Amino acid sequence: MDSLSLSLHRNTLLITINRPEKLNALNRQVIKELGIAIDDVYNHEEIKSAIITGSGNKAFVAGADISEFLNLDAAGGKEMARFGQQHVFNKIENSPKPIIAAVNGFALGGGCELAMACHFRIACDQAKFGQPEINLGLIPGYGGTQRLPRLIGKGRAMELMMTGNMIDAPTALQYGLVNQVVAQKDLLDKAFALTELMNSKAPLALSGCIEAINAAFDSTQNGYEKEIAIFGKLFDTADAKEGAAAFLEKRKPDFKGA
Ligand code: COA
Repeated sequence: MDSLSLSLHRNTLLITINRPEKLNALNRQVIKELGIAIDDVYNHEEIKSAIITGSGNKAFVAGADISEFLNLDAAGGKEMARFGQQHVFNKIENSPKPIIAAVNGFALGGGCELAMACHFRIACDQAKFGQPEINLGLIPGYGGTQRLPRLIGKGRAMELMMTGNMIDAPTALQYGLVNQVVAQKDLLDKAFALTELMNSKAPLALSGCIEAINAAFDSTQNGYEKEIAIFGKLFDTADAKEGAAAFLEKRKPDFKGA
C-alpha cells in the first residue's frame, strides 16, 4: 500500500492514511487502497475491529483531493462519488466488525464523511470538522448530505453545509458528531481501549448491533423486524449459550464467534 499504513495490534487493524504533506487528502489511490483495507477487515479472521486515523498531528483527512477535480465532468464526478460510496464509505458503514474513527486533526469534506461512515468517532481536542464543498461550488459526494443530518440534525447540517464553516471538537461533541474528545497524545490509546473492549464481546452479536442499528436509518427496511430476526437468530449461537452460562456461573464469557 502506497498511501496507507496498516498494522495489526492484537486483533485490531490500525489503518493510517499516510499523505501528511497533503493533509491526508483522499485521492483515487487512497480510495482504492481504503477499499482493499476494508475488504481485509471483512475477510481476515484475526481482524476483529479496525481504527481509521490520519498520519501526523494536523489532519485526519482534509477532504477529497481537490487537484483531481479540475478535469472532472458530470459523468466523472458521478463515477467518483458512486465508486467511493460503494467501495469505501458504505462498506465501512455495513462492516460486520466495528470500525471507529480516531480523528486526529482536520476532518473536512471527505474526511468528515469518512469519519461519519465509521460506526462511531472519537476525536482529539484539536480536531476540526466541516463540509466546505460549498466553497468549491460543490456539495458533499461521499454520503455527507445523508449521514450528517442523521448524526447532528437537519438544521445544524444545513448550516454547516451551506456556510462551509468548521466546528471545533467541543462543538462536535455537543452536536453528537463525536462520542468523546481526548488529548491528542491519548487518542490512539483511547481508541484501542474501545476496540479491545469490543473485541472481547461476541462477534455475531456485534455484527447484529451494527446491522440492526443501520436498519433504523434505512427507509427500505423495517428496523423492528430486523431486530426481531437478529435477536432470534442469536439464540441459536454457541456464544449466546456461553454468555448466559458465564453470567450464571459468575465467570467471564469466552466467546468464539459461533
Ligand atoms: N486536496 C488537495 N490538497 C490539499 C487538500 C485537499 N483537500 N487539503 C490540503 N491540501 C494540501 C495543500 O494544497 C497544501 O499542499 P502544498 O503544500 O503542496 O501547497 C498542503 O496540503 C497543506 O495544506 P495548506 O492549505 O497549506 O495548510 P493550512 O494549514 O494553511 O490549511 C486547511 C489547512 C485544512 C484549512 C486547508 O488545507 C484547506 O482548506 N483544505 C481544503 C479543505 C477542503 O475544502 N476540503 C474539501 C474538499 S471536497
